[in-house]
Amino acid sequence: MKSVPFTRRQALLRGAALSFPTIVPASVFGQNAPSKQITMAVIGWGMMGPGNTAKFLSEPDCRVLAACDIDQQNLGKAVNTINGAYKNKDCKAYHDYREVMARKDIDTVMLALPDNWHALTSIEAAAQGKDIYGEKPLARTLREQQAIVAAVKKHGRIWQTGSWQRSEDNFRIGAEIVRNGLIGKLTRVEVGLPAGHNDFAKTGDKRSVTPAPAHLDYEMWIGPAAMQDYIECRVHKNWRWDYNIGGGQLLDWIGHHGDIAHWGMGMDESGPLEVRPMQVDMPSRSEIWNTATRYRAEASYDGDITMVIAGGHADIAMGTKWIGTEGWVYVNRGGTYDCSNPKLKQIIKKREGERVVEAAKAPKLGDDLIKNRLYQSPGHHRNFLDCVKSRQPTVTPVETAHRSATPGHLALISFLVNRPIRWDPKTQEILDDAQASALMGRDYRGPWKLPA
Ligand SMILES: NC(=O)c1ccc[n+]([C@@H]2O[C@H](COP(=O)([O-])OP(=O)(O)OC[C@H]3O[C@@H](n4cnc5c(N)ncnc54)[C@H](O)[C@@H]3O)[C@@H](O)[C@H]2O)c1
Repeated sequence: MKSVPFTRRQALLRGAALSFPTIVPASVFGQNAPSKQITMAVIGWGMMGPGNTAKFLSEPDCRVLAACDIDQQNLGKAVNTINGAYKNKDCKAYHDYREVMARKDIDTVMLALPDNWHALTSIEAAAQGKDIYGEKPLARTLREQQAIVAAVKKHGRIWQTGSWQRSEDNFRIGAEIVRNGLIGKLTRVEVGLPAGHNDFAKTGDKRSVTPAPAHLDYEMWIGPAAMQDYIECRVHKNWRWDYNIGGGQLLDWIGHHGDIAHWGMGMDESGPLEVRPMQVDMPSRSEIWNTATRYRAEASYDGDITMVIAGGHADIAMGTKWIGTEGWVYVNRGGTYDCSNPKLKQIIKKREGERVVEAAKAPKLGDDLIKNRLYQSPGHHRNFLDCVKSRQPTVTPVETAHRSATPGHLALISFLVNRPIRWDPKTQEILDDAQASALMGRDYRGPWKLPA
């Protein structure tokens, strides 16, 4: 990737960005420094970057030394926030992720970038020996996901995915109940996701073609995706409604409720055998927001288990529901937890005005029923830092992220070819369908190349 030349505009923007001061010598931080502080660069300061960074800023053994964004306004906000938190001016600003990743004194990176950038940035970070906190879904395409998994494994990096629901007690206990056979034999899993589109960036009706604003390096923002006109309402935050960059509600959320579903199913290193398109409302590809608005797919797993993945279908509630021969468990955000078995229901109690996970206060609660506990994370960002030190896997390592997003990718491909597709979870290939297989990857816009 080093061969990709900077444009004059990038160089100018970079020069401007680098005017932020830095005075941190490499020896002060880094894993080998006496302070044992974990040093970090944060890359991408839009909707998710600030929240992730706030968590890392609050951890005393983490030091954020650098911020990178190709939007000068967002980059300025990042640097001001980080310097404000530390009450100094040490955070260095970068325009090009390759420059910050080349820094030897930086141990880790937090990546919160649009999906079109996940693969190249993750692979570069792994090659530069960084441990990575990266967002879901793992990447825009299955081929990119496979390349990220290979790079992270090859370079022996620690990876945490932003599928933070695994660090919440209600989701973990729901999965534990299923894994301990307490709802009998699992037969059906319902994964309820959002539908439609949201104007997250509050761009209103800014749907006309205009020049990109001077503070944004739009050429770099498009990166390896196909070049298209700048239209404000499909760039920051709203890119997820455009298949050129993102994957719609389906892929935005499969790494949350689909991830939890897989945890309960014990599918972290496997996947479906077949995925069938059941219903899809798909705008024309020429629409500015062209991702599926309402959708439903079914996936068959080993052991006669059917997963329903749906957005906008009233019979499938938002969240994850596992149904077995002897009962069911349902979990969702906000501590939501319900279970058909009254005794199991006691494991998580609801208090007036707030939901309190009793098991968090009394970890042994439910031990008479739940013999085999799952990975208990102390908090998603804390878990990443702990694992950077211990070199043990996080609660959502890279293979898990890949496998969790796979049913979403396959569902989307099945919608596009409009027929069931068969999948081999071992070889990770679509079987006997060349047209569907071709949709596992896509051409990169030069000079960007997905490393083999
Ligand atoms: N875990 C969660 O709950 C959660 C919630 C929201 C978003 N996300 C994920 O976070 C990621 C980012 O989403 P978002 O909504 O924050 O996007 P966003 O558009 O709000 O922000 C992305 C930022 O990245 C910058 N950027 C784009 N390309 C870049 C590049 N090559 N180098 C440096 N900076 C670049 C943009 O300028 C922008 O500031 C996505 O993967 C999304 O799915 C996760």
